[in-house]
Amino acid sequence: MARLRSVLAVAATLLAACTSPTTPSDSNEIVVPRLWDAQALASWSLPLANGLAQGYVSPEVYYAAPVDNLRTYPVYHPDREPPGYRAALLALGPQPLIEPERLHTRPQWIEAGRRVFEELDTPASRSDEPELLAHFSDGKAVDKYRDATHDTMTADGVLLDYRWVVERDGKLKLSFSSCAGCHTRVLPDGTLLRGAPRTSISPPRRRPR
Ligand code: HEC
Repeated sequence: MARLRSVLAVAATLLAACTSPTTPSDSNEIVVPRLWDAQALASWSLPLANGLAQGYVSPEVYYAAPVDNLRTYPVYHPDREPPGYRAALLALGPQPLIEPERLHTRPQWIEAGRRVFEELDTPASRSDEPELLAHFSDGKAVDKYRDATHDTMTADGVLLDYRWVVERDGKLKLSFSSCAGCHTRVLPDGTLLRGAPRTSISPPRRRPR
């Protein structure tokens, strides 16, 4: 539970660092903001048109939510996957995405935030069904569904929409990316612009005529 708080706090710390001009950049003091606050939630969203009151779970329920804290790894196009890659991931066993107890300085927290943003996956989508693994082991099968806005691939042959994760049961599973899947843009030269909308969400604009 403490871990979920920490993972969320990393994201919040990152956002606060980006948006708050009062954040002292030279201070090493880590202030973890409290995200889910009943008073702040009361005026968070616009009233619903049908007059009904919207409700949010209480801070008690929110902060007691179960934790998921697992490292994930890039999914390569089958023709670009380094030899022995999946076996090497399996050998690592389940690893924590972040270890809050080992984060002390501001740069360490910022680095942990980068990792959460880039590696977070969508746990409900994790699967090791043979059919799925066979698909991601067959270059031609993957290519069948790739186009300018689907299964975007980086210059290194990484498919941004997916992540490998070694689950707590020790099995290697394929999962959908979270933040980075929608917020990493592949530029025309194949390099990545992290934080920008992905091509399928915001296709390149044509010059106005
Ligand atoms: C399924 C795609 C998707 C995923 C996954 C996703 N986002 Fe987004 N995100 C969007 C879209 C689309 C918008 C723009 C929404 C709008 O403008 O109404 C957005 C907006 C945002 C914004 C606001 C940007 C602004 O300029 O106001 C932030 C911050 C953000 N996302 C952070 C995250 C973080 C952190 C994660 C991971 C925990 C995440 N997003 C996961 C699609 C996604």
